[in-house]
Amino acid sequence: MDGPIQAIVVHGGAWSIPSEARAAHRAGCLAAAERGFGVLSAGGSALDAVVAAIELLEDDPTFDAGRGSVLSAEGRVQLDAGLMDGRTLHVGAVANVHRVAHPIRLARVVLERSGHHLLVGEGAEQFAIAQGLALVEPDSLVVDRERQRYADFLAGRIATEDDFGGHDTVGAVALDGDGQLAAGNSTGGVAFSLPGRVGDAPVPGVGYVADSRTGGVACTGWGEHILRVALATRALIALEGGADAGDAAREALGVLERSVQGRAGLIVLDRHGRVGLAHSTQCLAHAYRRTGMTEAVGGTEAATASSGPSRRPPR
Ligand code: GLY
Repeated sequence: MDGPIQAIVVHGGAWSIPSEARAAHRAGCLAAAERGFGVLSAGGSALDAVVAAIELLEDDPTFDAGRGSVLSAEGRVQLDAGLMDGRTLHVGAVANVHRVAHPIRLARVVLERSGHHLLVGEGAEQFAIAQGLALVEPDSLVVDRERQRYADFLAGRIATEDDFGGHDTVGAVALDGDGQLAAGNSTGGVAFSLPGRVGDAPVPGVGYVADSRTGGVACTGWGEHILRVALATRALIALEGGADAGDAAREALGVLERSVQGRAGLIVLDRHGRVGLAHSTQCLAHAYRRTGMTEAVGGTEAATASSGPSRRPPR
């Protein structure tokens, strides 16, 4: 194929997505992949595409990110997001914000304008105000589904996320026409968690990583496990060692399983635009599109799907 390859892959969480919720997860991921690919096609950067795709997922109440996030033990949203530019290896991330409708947008502002990489809580929100990003009422990010779950939690009918199957971080990895990669994640974290809890999603090298010399990775699953093995870096190291995108994702999952008996999902995009998908959870909501495809493809199960022959897009 002549000309540069552009590609984007997104995820909408790795967990036991109930069958009645799968269509919405698939539709949300497809829409986000199309949004991101549209940005790339219009000449946007990988960073632009990742942010645009994740913003769409943050707006979609289907997912545990932005509006629709699960509630903490205190009964409010607790949001994290992070973003890495594979060209410069610069990072922007925020954790434990409550009044930010698009944490990934704030993460980008941290990356570009703060001189820091990770801002948390009140300081992150004050930085948002200083940079002209409007804050919202935390309640505007809470949907009825999560209000009901929290009521069930308070009434003792459910105690942990396991009682309703899990949650869905969202994320994306993109390759632009200049051969640059970016990766990011956004999440409402784990339901009923302690105030101040931060998982893998905003932590570079753990929940996401991008290096334009190699590839980009975004992870989803239970952050307490992912943090302990720096999961995204495991996949990147496998890519650097010559693994293809699918094998890199599977190797990382193998480390997670052997080391901490964890389960997760990964999306991987190598510098040639080859997609890898792998999950050891029941489902991985995902979608991708690359140059040469007429539309995004995706779904909620990628058990055998990886960048192996059955899913490797045309070169
Ligand atoms: N993977 C998202 C979290 O555990 O917060």
